[in-house]
Amino acid sequence: MAILIIASHDRPDWWARELQQRDPDLDVRIWPDVGDPADITYALAWKPAPGALASLSNLAIVFSLGAGVDHLFEDPDFPAHVAVVRVVDPYLTAGIREYVLLHTLRYHRNQPALDQQQRDHVWDDRARELRQADEQGVGILGLGELGQASANALSNLKFDVAGWSRSPKDLPGITCFDGRGGLDALLGRSRILICLLPLTPETEGILGAELFSRLPMGAYLINAARGGHMIEADLIPALEDGRLAHATLDVFREEPLPGDHPFWDHPQITVTPHNAAITDPRSVVIQILDDIGRHQRGDALSNQVDTRLGY
Ligand code: NAP
Ligand code: GLV
Repeated sequence: MAILIIASHDRPDWWARELQQRDPDLDVRIWPDVGDPADITYALAWKPAPGALASLSNLAIVFSLGAGVDHLFEDPDFPAHVAVVRVVDPYLTAGIREYVLLHTLRYHRNQPALDQQQRDHVWDDRARELRQADEQGVGILGLGELGQASANALSNLKFDVAGWSRSPKDLPGITCFDGRGGLDALLGRSRILICLLPLTPETEGILGAELFSRLPMGAYLINAARGGHMIEADLIPALEDGRLAHATLDVFREEPLPGDHPFWDHPQITVTPHNAAITDPRSVVIQILDDIGRHQRGDALSNQVDTRLGY
């Protein structure tokens, strides 16, 4: 039994070190130094090269090194019989919660406009619209691990929080909507809209002109999910005609965001480099080793992805 790390952009040595510190007897290999591919039972992967996983004939589980698994299913040769496990980790959840709080508060306090006032040497203490947190409708697309943690944190700050999911939910302090039929109601009340959906065929391109047109005029958008959720060509027109006031984007269709991309310099867009939450190997290898133990005992895995749904 050997473990292969396929994560060329994501600190493979660190993952190997953390695994071996916890169990020095583990046979850990780093792509592309696979040795005999038939030795590999488990893979830890982030954006693996297409076909890499399919080349491992005895692969039983692939552990996504992030919460999202879309990067695995992008591979047309992804081996359908292999179990997929994703990260659910308190530090990752905390990272997203912090990001959502930071940027929601920034919008609630009208900080982008105040930053501009400072650049223009303008003192206007009435520039901030007087709207209390409980009058601020915040909508969260996705009420899973990260959406619920963010919704609860915002609700604790007294924001008027609603969320949207595929299946119905009943969460204290959060107004819950579900399914295509529930989306309109969520959008209509969301002055600040936060995307925390997984990227699947159903959610690809959801953030586009049609959805923006159903938000209150001058709404704010925070996308901390995936770049594929956004129809990028629709964003700047929505900002320029006032439909949206500002957008904060952590994720993009192409990452790193190309140097000549118009989002970099747009005054109504904040760009962050896909770092809303970063997987911490020190914490996540504990979960991975626990799941390997479960697999070897024949027990159910934790955080196994439903590959039919894609999340
Ligand atoms: P999760 O626990 O699987 O939750 C996903 C939520 O989305 C669930 O509430 C699910 O509904 C809902 N959903 C899925 N498809 C839907 C659809 N078609 N219509 C309506 N709702 C739908 O995922 P998570 O752990 O919260 O993570 C969400 C995403 O965040 C990840 O997939 C990843 O792409 C992104 N992420 C980004 C960063 C970053 O640094 N920017 C870090 C971590 C994660 P049900 O509850 O009904 O299943
Ligand atoms: C990061 O984007 C993740 O999916 O964890």
